[in-house]
Amino acid sequence: MDNKKNEELLFLKEQLDFFQQIGAEFFPLAPVAAGRSEEAGKRLEIFASLEKTVLSCKKCPLAAARTHAVPGEGNKQADLLFIGEGPGHDEDLQGKPFVGRAGQLLTKIIEAMKFTRDDVYITNLVKCRPPDNRNPEPGEIEQCHPYLLQQIELIQPRVIVTLGKVAAEFFVPHLKSIGQVRGRFQLYRDIPLMPTYHPSYLIRQPDNRSLRKMVWEDMKKVMALLDGS
Ligand code: URA
Repeated sequence: MDNKKNEELLFLKEQLDFFQQIGAEFFPLAPVAAGRSEEAGKRLEIFASLEKTVLSCKKCPLAAARTHAVPGEGNKQADLLFIGEGPGHDEDLQGKPFVGRAGQLLTKIIEAMKFTRDDVYITNLVKCRPPDNRNPEPGEIEQCHPYLLQQIELIQPRVIVTLGKVAAEFFVPHLKSIGQVRGRFQLYRDIPLMPTYHPSYLIRQPDNRSLRKMVWEDMKKVMALLDGS
């Protein structure tokens, strides 16, 4: 059990003890629930201000060539968070993540998992398009990654899925190949993190049905975890 859940349980136990001591015959849940929704409201406010910061960010050279920065899209309190590498051509034009061909495949995967794009949150390691869709450079990731980490802190997802080697490598340093970790849950700050192949890689290998199967196996593990806990 994580620290936060422990703290919540301790707090509930203290409240129960207190109400027992004063002879109360019922336990009022409203103040706790109100506290929670207040906290969630604050997180959404901070998220909105983070999005504004990303949209006007000029911390690295990628800002100069972008049409739009792409903070991310979806449910800001989602249980499930997808993290790609960085916006491509279509994403840069529309200001939304995963809307090109790879995005269409990701949408199909999300729907096969019985979610919609609005149920989950989708973002990238870097928020601006690297020219010619090259991999983001270490300096760009260094400047940009605090936005992603803050997003994770605010969303508090139950499971994270990273798409492709670049996103996986950020969480599992010194990774030689995605095959080393794909399909096996890792942990980021107590959050289970499932590295899987990038949808662009699946598109580039149209005849490789086994790759698609592997991604689906990974997503089944994610669904099982979400269903079971
Ligand atoms: N590839 C990514 O990694 N992210 C996008 O948003 C689109 C394509």
